Amino acid sequence: MHIRDLVRPFPIVQGGMGVGISLAPLANAVSKAGGLGTISSAGLDRLVSKRLGRKVSTREAAAIETRDAQEGGVPAAVNIMVALQTTYEDSVLGAIDGGAAAIVSGAGMPLRLPELVATHPDGDKTALIPIVSSGRALRLLCKKWQRAGRLPDAAVVEGPLAGGHLGWRTAEEVEAPASKLENILAECLEVAKSFGSFPLIAAGGIFDRDDISRMLELGAAGVQMGTRFLATKESSASDTFKQAVVDCKEEDIEVAISPGSPCGLPFRILKGSPMFIETLKGARKALCRKGYVLLNGKCLGNEDPAKFFCICDGLFSAAGAGVEGEDADLFTVGALAGMVDKIMSVGDLMKELCGKVTPQTS
Ligand SMILES: Cc1cc2nc3c(=O)[nH]c(=O)nc-3n(C[C@H](O)[C@H](O)[C@H](O)COP(=O)(O)O)c2cc1C
Repeated sequence: MHIRDLVRPFPIVQGGMGVGISLAPLANAVSKAGGLGTISSAGLDRLVSKRLGRKVSTREAAAIETRDAQEGGVPAAVNIMVALQTTYEDSVLGAIDGGAAAIVSGAGMPLRLPELVATHPDGDKTALIPIVSSGRALRLLCKKWQRAGRLPDAAVVEGPLAGGHLGWRTAEEVEAPASKLENILAECLEVAKSFGSFPLIAAGGIFDRDDISRMLELGAAGVQMGTRFLATKESSASDTFKQAVVDCKEEDIEVAISPGSPCGLPFRILKGSPMFIETLKGARKALCRKGYVLLNGKCLGNEDPAKFFCICDGLFSAAGAGVEGEDADLFTVGALAGMVDKIMSVGDLMKELCGKVTPQTS
């Protein structure tokens, strides 16, 4: 897989998983196994401060985690969600301070990313990879980025089977045939071609090596996978979260809209997540104490606790980093989580996935 000057032996990107799930141990293990590991920047100020026993800023925390993820000279990417407005800018600058091989940015449109990156003296060393869910979004983004003097170095095309936030507004849009990964990948390939061609990475519902080969045949340069890496030994999800993934079945998973995520995007979860159940019952006590997700200066998780769950507290808790006895877990998974039947090491998973992958030609 070639992304600008970044070459990986295997066409697998481990997707960023926040809060606190894809940290340096997972990203480093994936990159050492020949893929591209990704840390999530979400909540790193708290997570790294706790680990080091001293207060570090968002920017410093992003730089520290990036360096740790690249330990041993391997490259790693940093996933930075647009929706986390209060820490977005510092996370981007910190990732570049730490020498990130790439910044992957979605959960909103990263329209201003090239301008922001250009304010850093080393900004042009980091590959920029937006996440999109339609050809229309990719075209809009390319036009905007072109005016700022940069095009995407690659783009993740994320379909409706992915874990985390989904790039549509309604359940009907998520389920529409036009939204299928194959269809949006074809649209995005046309758009990428019209801007001089850059590699596309297909994401959402990629489970085994046949899925990977199929995506490469359809023209993707690689795939991004989340759920399979969530249930690895090296992921920083709590043991309870990993076991919930192993135990779940297809019917235990749903796309939550109302009640839903304060980001305002559909969010795929395990229906049995304690925080989702509390929210449904109108019994959610803990209001967000972190405030990473602010829309117009307000956290919807605080404004309307019966309509929105709190992804800050819920996801921190699912990573074993919540306030004991106060925060309830919120588990986000991909649509194929029901097929995961054991917790594996990254090495074994990469061997399973890469055994027969068609070698890449540049
Ligand atoms: C637990 C979990 C957390 C995630 N968190 C993020 C995130 O913070 N930012 C993001 O852009 N995508 C996030 N995603 C999406 C993944 O990076 C990836 O694109 C997606 O899960 C791919 O679909 P799959 O799970 O079917 O492989 C998350 C996914 C999961 C399962």
